[in-house]
Amino acid sequence: MESSPHHHTKYSPDTLSDRLVPSRIKDCITTSVVARNILYFQSIDSTNRIAGEYARQGCSDGTLVIAEEQTAGRGRFSRTWISPARSSILCSLIFYPSITTASLFKMTMLASIAVVRAIHALCNIDSFIKWPNDVYVNGKKVCGILTEFESDHDILKYVVVGIGINVNQDMIACPEINTIAVSLKEACGKIISRLALLKELLEEIDRLYRDFLKTGGTGLRSEWMKHSGIMNRHVLITDVDTVTSGIVKDITDDGHLMLEDEQGSTHEILCGDVSLQLE
Ligand code: BTN
Repeated sequence: MESSPHHHTKYSPDTLSDRLVPSRIKDCITTSVVARNILYFQSIDSTNRIAGEYARQGCSDGTLVIAEEQTAGRGRFSRTWISPARSSILCSLIFYPSITTASLFKMTMLASIAVVRAIHALCNIDSFIKWPNDVYVNGKKVCGILTEFESDHDILKYVVVGIGINVNQDMIACPEINTIAVSLKEACGKIISRLALLKELLEEIDRLYRDFLKTGGTGLRSEWMKHSGIMNRHVLITDVDTVTSGIVKDITDDGHLMLEDEQGSTHEILCGDVSLQLE
């Protein structure tokens, strides 16, 4: 029988099998809020940027923006997020929880807990949350989270939670970042299905977000601390023009770090970059 284009499946395995197209995502997820609406891009400057635009237009709660490639991926402190096409998960979720900006850090906590759980489910490895918003495996960064929002005075209008996970890249091919970053493929020695990882991630976020709406996220802090790689560790925290050193004693509900310095006094740290000190 002659083959005709009609006999091909919708996503021919050779070319499209691992694309994170909306129909494939919708077919496998069982979420009730997260990713009921999906916006997909082969290539976009930044999923966080375009998600902000959609949020201002009022798209639905839990909308997922996902791309195979970003040409200007954003990180914190105006850094860039680099990743070759189709090698990682590059997505942003849009939420409209009725909260004040004081509770905003819980959205970042929620996302990082979901990332740790999804990595464990798919790769069977432990990863660690590095305050405020990174996930590390074997001392190298595997995921970055960028939470952006708009508020009216203290009242949140929308929040965009952007998540970048290094999945199948060979970091050796990325000299700019291979000393500090790792992919899941490298960490667990096998190719990871991005779709399967995304499914776990979205379902975890869905559970945690619905719980957050109900309870205000009372369980997040202890869950976050369980996976935190810095509790009771000696760290250096670098902010724009300050460096603080001390031992991490606690994290507040708002996500501030409580640091005890050598003299025994406590500092409350609102933001910055953590580096671990050798004991
Ligand atoms: C950081 O490590 O500083 C945060 C990096 C966040 C990267 C993700 S990739 C998907 C989303 N879109 C962006 O432009 N940034 C986030």
